[in-house]
This record gives sequence, structure tokens and C-alpha cells, in this order.
Amino acid sequence: MINPGLPKIFYGGDYNPEQWEKKVWDEDVRLFKLANIDIATVNVFSWALNQPDETTYNFEWLDEVIDKLYQNGIFVCLATSTAAHPAWMATRYPDVLRVDFEGRKRKFGSRHNSCPNSPTYRKYAPLIAQKLAERYKNHPALLVWHVSNEYGGICYCDNCAAAFREWLKERYGTLQALNAAWYTSFWGHTFYDWDEIVPPSILSEHSGPYRTSFQSITLDYARFNSDSLLACYQLEYDELKKQTPGVPITTNLMGTYKPLDYFKWAKQMDVVSWDNYPAADTPVSVTAMRHDLMRGLKDGQPFMLMEQTPSMQNWQPYNSLKRPGVMRLWSYQAVAHGADTVMFFQLRRSRGASEKYHGAVVEHVGHENTRVFRESAELGAELSRLEDKLLDSRVPAKVGILFDWDNWWAIENSSGPTIDLKYVDEVHKYYQAFYDQNIPVDMIGVDTTLAGYDLVIAPVLYMVKPGYAKKLEDFVKKGGVFLTTFFSGIVNETDLVTLGGYPGELRSLLGIWVEEIDALFPGQKNRIVMKEKLGGLEGEYTCNLLCDLLHSEGAEVVATYGDDFYQGMPVVTRNNFGKGQAWYVASSPEPAFLKGLAGRIAADKRIKPLLETPPGVEAAARTKDGETFLFILNHNRQPQTVDLANLQGTDLLANEAVSGSVDIPASGLRIISCSNPD
Ligand code: GLA
Ligand code: ZN
Repeated sequence: MINPGLPKIFYGGDYNPEQWEKKVWDEDVRLFKLANIDIATVNVFSWALNQPDETTYNFEWLDEVIDKLYQNGIFVCLATSTAAHPAWMATRYPDVLRVDFEGRKRKFGSRHNSCPNSPTYRKYAPLIAQKLAERYKNHPALLVWHVSNEYGGICYCDNCAAAFREWLKERYGTLQALNAAWYTSFWGHTFYDWDEIVPPSILSEHSGPYRTSFQSITLDYARFNSDSLLACYQLEYDELKKQTPGVPITTNLMGTYKPLDYFKWAKQMDVVSWDNYPAADTPVSVTAMRHDLMRGLKDGQPFMLMEQTPSMQNWQPYNSLKRPGVMRLWSYQAVAHGADTVMFFQLRRSRGASEKYHGAVVEHVGHENTRVFRESAELGAELSRLEDKLLDSRVPAKVGILFDWDNWWAIENSSGPTIDLKYVDEVHKYYQAFYDQNIPVDMIGVDTTLAGYDLVIAPVLYMVKPGYAKKLEDFVKKGGVFLTTFFSGIVNETDLVTLGGYPGELRSLLGIWVEEIDALFPGQKNRIVMKEKLGGLEGEYTCNLLCDLLHSEGAEVVATYGDDFYQGMPVVTRNNFGKGQAWYVASSPEPAFLKGLAGRIAADKRIKPLLETPPGVEAAARTKDGETFLFILNHNRQPQTVDLANLQGTDLLANEAVSGSVDIPASGLRIISCSNPD
């Protein structure tokens, strides 16, 4: 929860007054008020301004900004400004500069540029956080802390190398254990001294970003790098917490961002926040999945939509405008999936440098008579009218889809069996199968309790962490349904194969033995031939990417391969285990198959879709105090009619009673409040 008792969905975003003369600030607050903006994220990139040298701090400008905002009814999400170090720091203390994957020492420039193991960075970043906390701890405008900005990237400098060795000592204790975990008998890698270990880069183990000779070393470096950045966050967090124990602390995440293990990060955050930047051609189901993932990081707790663009980005190759209504629609999509704030990057468009063509609430023309401003102001007014109705409501889901960063890293480090296997894409295929039927999904981590779920889906569960197979077995024994796919149960936590037959630790749960794995060329397909009709599934479907060649060891064969020398071998199996079932899908099927399968296993568990909708119309729900808020979001550019079946309620936005069939304009939506969606 962001701040118990917030009066409404806070609305606003990144505001960079330091880029403007003071006379613009008055005009800013006039415009913000017109747009019903009540939160501004300030001080994100002002370290150089705040601290001109080692010992001087200038916060007067910030005092003035925060006071002015507060006097005009606007709260602040206060950033610590540590996402880009000052130039003087780089010149005087070069340890703050990163070394890249190619081994090049960077010079001052850009942002998100500090080495996470730099003693200088680790000294000055928490120090400025401390100064800010001291200065603003009693300011009534302070609503939430925003540590740094979009932590990310990776460093290969000598300080990182030394810290990596310490991290490894902590993890493995002895070199003997490390040699065993990394399988260093391969290619003569036995280490006799910790100092012999170097970061895995293009100078050492790698032949390209995704090609490493030693998967376990690269995997550990990814973990170490995520932990190193997290330690930087933690240093600032501790300084802020010490002085403002009651103010929630966050840092803005980036959805399916590969380098950071966000499940681990979220444990150190009071509230999750994230920046949502879909491209015009990003499927809306991908955006929905990312929202659900961000909500899943803290077991379903609402999150902050920290950034989205009101109109366009600047960093994509083709930065198309959000069409009329789409910004509003996507804002509510975020809310439908658990957002309790709606915020933009940024409030006023920069005059210079790389973000001058990034959309903003206030455009270069400088006044309110623009399409973007009008749409922003209308949304602001609408969110004000909603008051606190939706705040802190939950998203109920009976389906959990597992997402695990370690597994992601391990799969994509893998040399073989195919370069085309992309973890997030496979997860999304399963997500979409439920999404397309309006069956709510939680994205869950390996630590998430499974008890509340009827179905647990773990696409490509390549790495099985200690205890996880047992956790799944317990879940299924008690009546849960589990589904996993090809290339699962292969390795342990350090990427060592579990010997004795795939899928390793999952073998008895699934009742199968995978003997071989075939990789298909792009465009090559096999067929899934159903043995009999199963729910909506019958006949044949295509599959591609990888094909496991498997034998049943007790599992019922639901479908077999249609082609190649393994024609007739099982491709889909279902194993009864305790009171539940465990499914295995041995290849990557076409969407129609997955939709049918998802529908069938959901129906088996009596999980009903929220609503039947035409294609491109999404239904999602939040609940609070016995009330359900059903969101019906029309992602089509044509109006749609939706049959509410036996559902009755009140449309919160139109403020009218609804039942029967309702019209939804192009890019429009309805939020229907009802006591029971059935
Ligand atoms: C990120 C950053 C912002 C800004 C936007 C532009 O999310 O956090 O500072 O650069 O991207 O899309
Ligand atoms: Zn470094």
C-alpha cells in the first residue's frame, strides 16, 4: 500500500523544473491544477545541481519547488537524484565510471552510469539521500521516496571483480565447492586461488552477449550484478528509513527487465512502482502481463504506475502517437491490473537534449490548448471523481504463472538446443491463452505460496531450485493442477544437469521420461494430433521451436506428434498425482491449441472467465469489501458491443446503471461496480 488513506488515485508524474527558468514554474502549477495533477516526481536527475563539489549542497531551488507545489495542492514523490553522477565526481574519482562488456573504461556521460561497487558512489549516493531526508523529513508535501531511477546495466571493472570474488566466497564458502558448482573440470578451468576468477565478459568467457563457455559463471555474475545494484539501493533506503520511517520508499522498475531479479528487489521495497512504455505494436496482452508481474512481486499488493508517456516516446525507432483515447485506456488498463497511481514521464517537455521529442502533458507550445493536454486534463478530472473507490482493491486470480529471473538468465545463456528460445515469449504464450478468455492470472515467483491457486503454470521450468519440485508435488497432491513444458527440469541452481533422465526432479510428478530434445529450424513445424476431443480441442494443431521426445511413465497420453521419426510419440501428457494432475506440453504449440488447453484446464477447476468479450476487448477485475470492479477495455479502433449476460451494476465513469448489452466506444472502457460478477 502506498500510503494508507490516500484520498484518490494520485495523478501526475516526472517534473523537471531545474531545466526551466523560475518564471515558468508559476505557469507550470497553473497548468497542473488545470489538469487535476496532484503528484509530481521531482529531483530525479539533479545530483550535479544539488552537489557542486564534495562538500557543498544546494537545495534551495528544491525547497522552492516543493513549497510551490505543496501550496498548490501537489504532493511530491521525492527522488534522491543518484541516477546520474556529477561530472566532477567522474573526473576526480574515476572508480565511479563503469567498465563495459568489451572491457572499455567509460568516460563521463549519459546516465545510469555509476559502477555499483564504486567506493565513491557508495559513499556519496547514500550521503545525499541522508541530506535530503534530513531536509524534507517534516515537509507535508513528501508522499513517497523515489530512490535513484531505473537501476540497470552491468559493470565489469576491477572493483566489481573484487566484489564478485567476495560474493562468491559468501555463496560457496570454499574453492572446492565453487569448482564443483561451476563444473570447472571442463576446459581446464580449475581455480586454485579466488584471485584467478575474473568477470565473464567478451574478454574472458564470452564470444557475444549471449554466448558464454561457462553458463554457471555468467549466471552467477548476473545474480551478483543484480545484488550489487540492490545493495546501492539498500544503502539509500536505510538512510531514508532512519529519518522517515513512515514514508514509503520505492524505485521505478521496468517490467520484464532482464538484468535485475525484481522478486528479490521487491522484498526491499515498500511499494513497487514501474515505468510502462509499450510501443504501438506491443500486444496489449504483453502490457497486461507486465502489470501482473509487477503486482505479483509483492504478492498482489497494488503498485504505482510511475511513468508512461502521455503521447509518444523518443527512444523507439518510430515513435508514433498514442491515438485519441489510448492514453486514457492504457491508464485504466494499469489500474485494472493493480495500479493505484497514474503518472507520466513527463509533465513539461524538455527544450533540449535527447528527450525533447518525448511526449509530455505540457508540449513545446507551452499552453493548454493541445490534444494531449485536453486528454490529460479530462483523465485527471475523471480520476478525481473516482475518489478512493478503487484504491487498495485486489485482483483475484486462481491461475498462477511462474516467472523466475534465474531461470530466464540460465535459459538464455544456454549454448543449445536453439537460439530462438526466448523465456518471456514462452511465458507470454501461456499468459495470453488465459488473457484472451478473460481469466485473471497472477504472475508468481518461486517464493510465492501456491495454496491460493487452482492452476500453476510454469513455462520452460528449465532450472528447478532446491525444494521447488517438492513444493509443486505438495500442491498437486492436494488437488492442484500443474502444467509445464518442454525443456523443463533440466538443471539445478548452478546450471548442472540433473542426471538420470529429464525432466529430472519433475519426472515422477509428470510421469514421463524425456529421452531427447529436437530443435526445429525457423519455419519448420511438427503437428500435435489429439487422441480424442478434449474440451474445445480436437483434431490437429501445429507446434515448433523444440520437440521433446518422451515416454510415458504412467502419464496419460493426450496427444502425439504427427510428423518426423518421432511421429506417434507423446507430445501432451497428463499425470494423475495425489488429488491433482500434472500436464506436460512437449513442444511450443500454436495459440489456438494453448487457448483450448487453458480453457479446458480452467473449466476442470470451475474457473470461469470474467466475461465473454469480442476480440480485442479485455475484461479484468479488482475487488474490495465485497464489491467487484469489472473493467471492460476496448482495445479496438471500432466501437464494440459487449453482452453482460446476467451481470448488473453501475458504470462508475458514466454513472449509470448497466445490464444486458453495453456499447463501448473505440478505445473506450467501462468500469462496472457490482456485488457479484456471476
Ligand atoms: C525512463 C526514465 C525517464 C525517461 C523515460 C523516457 O522511463 O525513467 O527518465 O527517460 O524513460 O521514456
Ligand atoms: Zn564496477
